[in-house]
Amino acid sequence: MGAYWKDGSLAESIMDAESIPYEEIPNFPVSTVEGHHGRLVFGRLDGVSVVAMQGRFHYYEGYPLWKCCLPVRVMKLLGVKTLIATNAAGGLNPSYKIGDLMIVKDHINMMGFAGNNPLHGPNDERFGPRFPPMSKAYNYEYRKLAKEVAKEYNIENIVREGVYTCLGGPNFETVAELNMLKMVGVDAVGMSTVHEVITARHCDLNVFALSLITNECVTSYEADEQANHEEVLDVGRMRQDVLRKFVSRLVTKFHQIDSASP
Ligand code: HPA
Repeated sequence: MGAYWKDGSLAESIMDAESIPYEEIPNFPVSTVEGHHGRLVFGRLDGVSVVAMQGRFHYYEGYPLWKCCLPVRVMKLLGVKTLIATNAAGGLNPSYKIGDLMIVKDHINMMGFAGNNPLHGPNDERFGPRFPPMSKAYNYEYRKLAKEVAKEYNIENIVREGVYTCLGGPNFETVAELNMLKMVGVDAVGMSTVHEVITARHCDLNVFALSLITNECVTSYEADEQANHEEVLDVGRMRQDVLRKFVSRLVTKFHQIDSASP
């Protein structure tokens, strides 16, 4: 089973779907953000069994990181092998444009630097080791395939590869914060994914992540623009179909690799 995870409408491509509202799952958090529904959707994408989250949980909603990541462990227990995480992000790399898709090559766990980590506390050995490595967090074969699929679909001009970071939010970043992040090698910034990926790697799920660049980060005090949630939602809608097609194809391709490996 592959997992496919998205805040929004990708889950609508799933065939023979059965869904379970989060409120009906014991101890599951519930989503509080506008534009984020709240249910687990089970079904098939091109014959591959998937479970999608329609709506996910963010730290800024008030949940501790471990609780934001509880669905990842539920997926592991359901037999999921692969986590595909998508997110909206601000583009810090000056060559990125609004609407670009960034394959996540790596992340910088800024919240982790401050001691906030989903694995903080006693380790549950049933899921994974106390000190999990993160040097191969984002599967190399998946990233390579994603670039090939981007060519096949003629979207290589909007597909990038870069480093993502997650901040706690809910406010967007200051100019000084963004300039600092740029200096340390961050290409895109958002408010999700990093802790979910850490939890997934801890329990040995394969991971692929994709950021939709919904806005250009403001790194100058002279700029007039300001980041806003409406723009994030608008760009999400604009790229909905491309994203849906791209990720659906990736699910099939990743499944082929996973089935071939022991
Ligand atoms: N910053 C943080 N999170 C985001 C942004 C941003 O600019 N855009 C979309 N999510």
